[in-house]
Amino acid sequence: MSSSLLSYISVAVFAITITHVVTCAQSATNDALCKCPYPVQKLGHKGVISFAVIGDWGRVGANLSTYSAAQGGYDTQGRCSNPAYGFADDDYDGGILQSYAGIAMDAACEKHPYGCEFVISVGDNFYECGLDNPIRWKTDWLDVYKTDKTPTIKNLKWYNIFGNHDIVADGSVDAQIAYNKVNPDWVANRTYAFEVHSKDKSVRIRFGAVDTSPFVTSYAKATSKYNTTEFRNTASPQNITDQLTYLTRVLSTSKATWNVVLGHHPIFGPESANGYNAEALNINDAGAYDLGRPDAAGNPSWQEMLGIIRTYQPVAYMCGHDHTMSMGFDVNKTSNGYNTAYITSGAGSLPDSPCSVAGYRTNLAYSFATSLDKINVTEACPGGIPGPNYGNPNPVLGGMVGFNIVTVTPTSFKVDYYLSALGSPVKTYTYTSKAPSGAMPDVGCEC
Ligand SMILES: *[C@@H]1O[C@H](CO)[C@@H](O)[C@H](O)[C@H]1NC(C)=O
Ligand SMILES: *[C@@H]1O[C@H](CO)[C@@H](O)[C@H](O)[C@H]1NC(C)=O
Ligand SMILES: *[C@@H]1O[C@H](CO)[C@@H](O)[C@H](O)[C@H]1NC(C)=O
Ligand SMILES: *[C@@H]1O[C@H](CO)[C@@H](O)[C@H](O)[C@H]1NC(C)=O
Ligand SMILES: *[C@@H]1O[C@H](CO)[C@@H](O)[C@H](O)[C@H]1NC(C)=O
Ligand SMILES: *[C@@H]1O[C@H](CO)[C@@H](O)[C@H](O)[C@H]1NC(C)=O
Repeated sequence: MSSSLLSYISVAVFAITITHVVTCAQSATNDALCKCPYPVQKLGHKGVISFAVIGDWGRVGANLSTYSAAQGGYDTQGRCSNPAYGFADDDYDGGILQSYAGIAMDAACEKHPYGCEFVISVGDNFYECGLDNPIRWKTDWLDVYKTDKTPTIKNLKWYNIFGNHDIVADGSVDAQIAYNKVNPDWVANRTYAFEVHSKDKSVRIRFGAVDTSPFVTSYAKATSKYNTTEFRNTASPQNITDQLTYLTRVLSTSKATWNVVLGHHPIFGPESANGYNAEALNINDAGAYDLGRPDAAGNPSWQEMLGIIRTYQPVAYMCGHDHTMSMGFDVNKTSNGYNTAYITSGAGSLPDSPCSVAGYRTNLAYSFATSLDKINVTEACPGGIPGPNYGNPNPVLGGMVGFNIVTVTPTSFKVDYYLSALGSPVKTYTYTSKAPSGAMPDVGCEC
């Protein structure tokens, strides 16, 4: 990294402590549960785990002039293979910002006292229509986050879920799952779970990943671009029930210090209502928020999943989809004591303009709807944008890319928000959640 680029990045810290009682499923004494049924990644520090969270990122952020049409026939303007699916300029401008977010994440991980030990990606890995060409492994991932320009994060394992854009091109999801075998740093599946353990096992986090596109009512419209083969394969009521049953098992059997649920779409977020994701408005009633497509018992999926989260109270539900950064709580936290934090990290490439972010909601502790609406590169970034696509003459939409770094100990779960406008400081916001009473007991199990 050049020192001129580093000068763009300075850090301000805003520390806010929230007393937050969590339910850590520590009580199981059944030996049968002591063998971990999920993959475990053993990490390097004692007593602490540190990881990055990024969402909504794949917009061809690599230096496209190093590719030729001969290398997979890729559209050198960064357009989705089916132009009907996307906004070509958004992909092009978004690529610049994706690259910038990757470089900023590398710098933040480098400065963090424990570094970043792995990355959580909360979906929309490949815009606008999914993994439509194998060259996108290079243009969107390898050559953006795993090069010498990002030395600190270069060798990290990524745990990925799928967003609505990942399901558009036929075969996109299956190709992303198949890539697990090609590159061990890429972990992805529709519905899955895994754990990470600190070196001394005093901190253990269990993640349960859910594929939420099948929940979204509007995607089932015959005219929706998300009503694809992948959607139809995964959107049956029985498949939804199987996902919810899986999540219940993941949470109910956990003996980890902390549980986290991952899903692409927000439940409580700045662009969602005080309930469910506003983009998933019920097609039959435009005034009502989408409670979700039905499961096998005819119950709405979003509502069922919220019920599971309320029952087991994971420390966090992490999502993307809204291209912004936020942290909030259940609208009924106060009345019912629901303590899960709802974290949106959807600004990995093209942030939403403030106009599209419905502002501050009472249940949100933070809502970073402060992105620049539209910047003129010549004016706002003298000397150009410090990304590989340097010199793009077009105005860039948005401007405030972002990601989280999460630092977890036996007694605290701290989520730092890094936001980076081009040419402006990176800011760090901190939320600290205290576990009920002292260190969690080591249950002596595999997980
Ligand atoms: C993905 O999940 C399916 C269903 O649980 C499982 O059969 C498959 O082995 C998983 N694939 C990978 C690569 O983990
Ligand atoms: C998806 O679109 C098809 C028509 O292409 C329609 O028959 C179907 O009902 C739609 N929804 C689902 C969930 O398949
Ligand atoms: C949902 O359907 C997909 C595609 O058929 C399948 O791969 C997946 O395992 C199913 N999910 C669950 C939780 O059964
Ligand atoms: C919150 O509680 C109120 C009052 O009981 C209820 O009407 C509302 O549906 C609840 N909201 C959610 C998202 O559960
Ligand atoms: C950007 O700003 C420069 C300098 O003020 C101006 O010459 C140029 O026309 C602007 N570009 C756009 C697209 O507005
Ligand atoms: C992009 O690649 C071209 C061709 O190799 C090179 O000339 C150019 O300097 C690169 N741009 C950046 C910003 O790295």
